[in-house]
Amino acid sequence: MKISTTLAFVIVAAGFFVYQYRQAPIYAASSGSSGAKQAEQASSAKPQAHTSTPSEVGVTVFQENCSFCHGREAEGGETGPDLTRSKLVLSDSGGNKISVIVRNGTPDARMPRFEFSAQEMDGLVAFIHAQAAKAAAQVGGRRGVDVDDLQTGNAEAGKQYFNSNCASCHSPTGDLAGIASRYKGLDLEKQMLYPENVRSKVTVTLPSGQKVAGTLAYLDEFTVALQDASGTYRSWKISNVKYSVDSPVNGHVDLFSKYTDADIHNLMAYLQTLK
Ligand code: HEC
Ligand code: HEC
Repeated sequence: MKISTTLAFVIVAAGFFVYQYRQAPIYAASSGSSGAKQAEQASSAKPQAHTSTPSEVGVTVFQENCSFCHGREAEGGETGPDLTRSKLVLSDSGGNKISVIVRNGTPDARMPRFEFSAQEMDGLVAFIHAQAAKAAAQVGGRRGVDVDDLQTGNAEAGKQYFNSNCASCHSPTGDLAGIASRYKGLDLEKQMLYPENVRSKVTVTLPSGQKVAGTLAYLDEFTVALQDASGTYRSWKISNVKYSVDSPVNGHVDLFSKYTDADIHNLMAYLQTLK
């Protein structure tokens, strides 16, 4: 029991870091100059190239700027609320809410405003989400199962859960056919909780009315960029175009705060029948 709890936590924490890191560049950068710098980097081959990991940056930034109010573990202090159980944090996706409050502070100024680089903000967001995932794993029951547990769920109940919560985006005979042959055990669970290698789609409408669609490559408050079907990288000033982003995988972020332990067991039992 002890081992499996630890294991589950490792999965959850690692998953969240990875998840948030992948999502991280897809929200507004925090200041003009760094936004422009990032956009420049983005036009070279690797839009997401960062040197240190968000977790390292995030721990440092949080400890230096936030911990004296929100506590070292983000679990609340004398002058700041517990962020690991904050509704705002739990409903945040890739920093879209956290970065706003950090940049603006609160109207009563009990929470001051901060200016961070995009990379620092990414790290901060990743750290806060990881702490929230850790708290959820401790209090709300384990958000995961270990290898021995993988067969203990009820596949029929998992199928029902799937039909009501997953079937809008997935099909057991379509995209998920054979998923249990492609991923086994904990890899399958990780892939279910935080799908890897997923890209958002974006459609940009040019002033002429022409629409260009592709895979979102970069987005901050100044620049939107995509890779089109031919692999060509194209970017625009946001002030010149309209755009809409489609990130269906965010469905997984929303689900993460809703699963019970039993749901995950049952889903795993069901997915493992899709060989
Ligand atoms: C001087 C104390 C103080 C510091 C420093 C501080 N905060 Fe806060 N923070 C607060 C207070 C107080 C609130 C609640 C404000 C309110 O409800 O009006 C808050 C609210 C928040 C919230 C929203 C929580 C919710 O559920 O609404 C987030 C997210 C947050 N802070 C993140 C941070 C981060 C990240 C840092 C460091 C960059 C930071 N804070 C630094 C005091 C602080
Ligand atoms: C709002 C849409 C949405 C919902 C709801 C959703 N997913 Fe996903 N899911 C995605 C997207 C998008 C991907 C990435 C697919 C890709 O790029 O191959 C994905 C990937 C996956 C993968 C990995 C597939 C692979 O081939 O690697 C699994 C497993 C998965 N989802 C299971 C589930 C389960 C189980 C549920 C319900 C509990 C669920 N998803 C709910 C959108 C969704």
